[in-house]
Amino acid sequence: MEERTLVIIKPDGVERNLTGHLLKEFERNDLRISRLKMMQADMELARKHYAELADKPFFNKLLDYITRGPLVVCVIDGEEAVHRVRELVGDTDPKVARPNTIRTLYGKDKTENTIHASDSVESAEREMMLWFGELYEK
Ligand code: PPS
Repeated sequence: MEERTLVIIKPDGVERNLTGHLLKEFERNDLRISRLKMMQADMELARKHYAELADKPFFNKLLDYITRGPLVVCVIDGEEAVHRVRELVGDTDPKVARPNTIRTLYGKDKTENTIHASDSVESAEREMMLWFGELYEK
């Protein structure tokens, strides 16, 4: 099924000049970039994005990290895009992710893990509205 998902190249990915390389990985795997922007998230946006994690002990650390510098946010389209993008991205923890995923290759730890990808079609819808607002058309 054709799907859309939201991907964020997080601040550590942008800082280490990985933006072009990571975008190319999706294109190389027959996924299409349909929206793309570089921006810095403020605390309000970060809190909304990670609202489900508000009771986790690492919540404030995660907010500080995701707001610390520019990030690249994009919508990626393709057949089974949510699942396929998550496969390319790998597990949250770079140390336990399968070999050759983006996070094993580039992530430092569970916070600085280089990239975010929506975990379901429903999360993708919510996150696309949050990051692209009225610019996002269904
Ligand atoms: S959890 O604990 O199962 O809800 O975590 P998970 O779904 O794997 O991860 C959700 C996001 O939280 C970040 N994360 C962390 N940040 C800081 N410290 C620790 N220990 C930590 N564990 C998870 C993780 O990078 C996930 O970010 P996104 O952007 O959603 O991938």
